[in-house]
Amino acid sequence: MSDTRARVASHIVGRERELELTLAAVAAGREIVLEGPPGTSKTTMLKAITQEWGIPLLFVEGNADLTPAKLVGHHNPARVLREDYSADNFVAGPLVEAMQEGGFLYIEEFNRAPEDTLNTLLAAMADRSIAVPRVGIIVARPTFRVIASMNPYDNVGTTRLSTSVHDRLNRLSIGYQDEAGERGIVALRTSVSGTLGERFIRDAVAVTRATRTHRDLRQGSSVRGAIDCVLIARELAALRGVTSPDDDEYAALFYDAMVVSLSGRIHLDEAAETTPERVLREIWEDHFVLQPAIAEPG
Ligand SMILES: Nc1ncnc2c1ncn2[C@@H]1O[C@H](COP(=O)(O)OP(=O)(O)OP(=O)(O)O)[C@@H](O)[C@H]1O
Ligand SMILES: [Mg+2]
Repeated sequence: MSDTRARVASHIVGRERELELTLAAVAAGREIVLEGPPGTSKTTMLKAITQEWGIPLLFVEGNADLTPAKLVGHHNPARVLREDYSADNFVAGPLVEAMQEGGFLYIEEFNRAPEDTLNTLLAAMADRSIAVPRVGIIVARPTFRVIASMNPYDNVGTTRLSTSVHDRLNRLSIGYQDEAGERGIVALRTSVSGTLGERFIRDAVAVTRATRTHRDLRQGSSVRGAIDCVLIARELAALRGVTSPDDDEYAALFYDAMVVSLSGRIHLDEAAETTPERVLREIWEDHFVLQPAIAEPG
């Protein structure tokens, strides 16, 4: 088990505790809800665990259209007309596929799924089998698990999960990575290097983190914004001939990269009378003009 943990961890920056707890839950044969904002390593951890176990990871997005039939599967209508219903013309949905192949069924935004869909899932988890009309009983392989995710900031179109749902699930709350962890992730995903590249990473992580605490924002950007900010800044630097962070044009270039990478990823508070660009300008000024010492190498 500790070997497994070490092998899985080698694909992931940081997250030792979250990985250990998630592994413990699934190894115990249990289901778990990972509750955290976007971009906080949930999918990355599950991919690493299922890869290590050699089993499939099936994704489903929880929304109002996720009916029990979509989850379970359906009979191919053209074939039903020709051949009548049979197990042979049944097209398995992700739940049945995960049960048959012993995979993880990962339901993102679990709390957006309709209640009857949740009940179908809970029954499959509890019984480890499911009765499909005109097909028969499908028994899950031992590694079948349901993993759910929820965004704690999400309150539009969500179902209030009943206490009986909560009582059947384990839960791990996941927050944003720390600053060093985010720099490590951005470095890994962008492969930039050198003085300019390292400065891009430091600045992109700092301004992205600042979006999460800005008073006018309901939700800031995840590390995905920082990754894209670095990639776009690098291209802009090539286009504009900027080769060093000491270049006079560096700060302006970085602001342009911020607007493109972050303006669509930040969500204004309903009461805030401002624009994403104005908020980013403030964060930029704070970082480059008011507190330039933070941006200095060191
Ligand atoms: N610990 C990590 N190690 C390496 N890369 C990471 C790590 N965490 C996140 N990333 C990278 O950041 C991006 C987002 O991470 P991931 O997909 O795991 O987030 P998530 O929690 O599943 O988000 P969402 O809720 O939006 O699906 C991916 O490109 C991933 O490669
Ligand atoms: Mg994900």
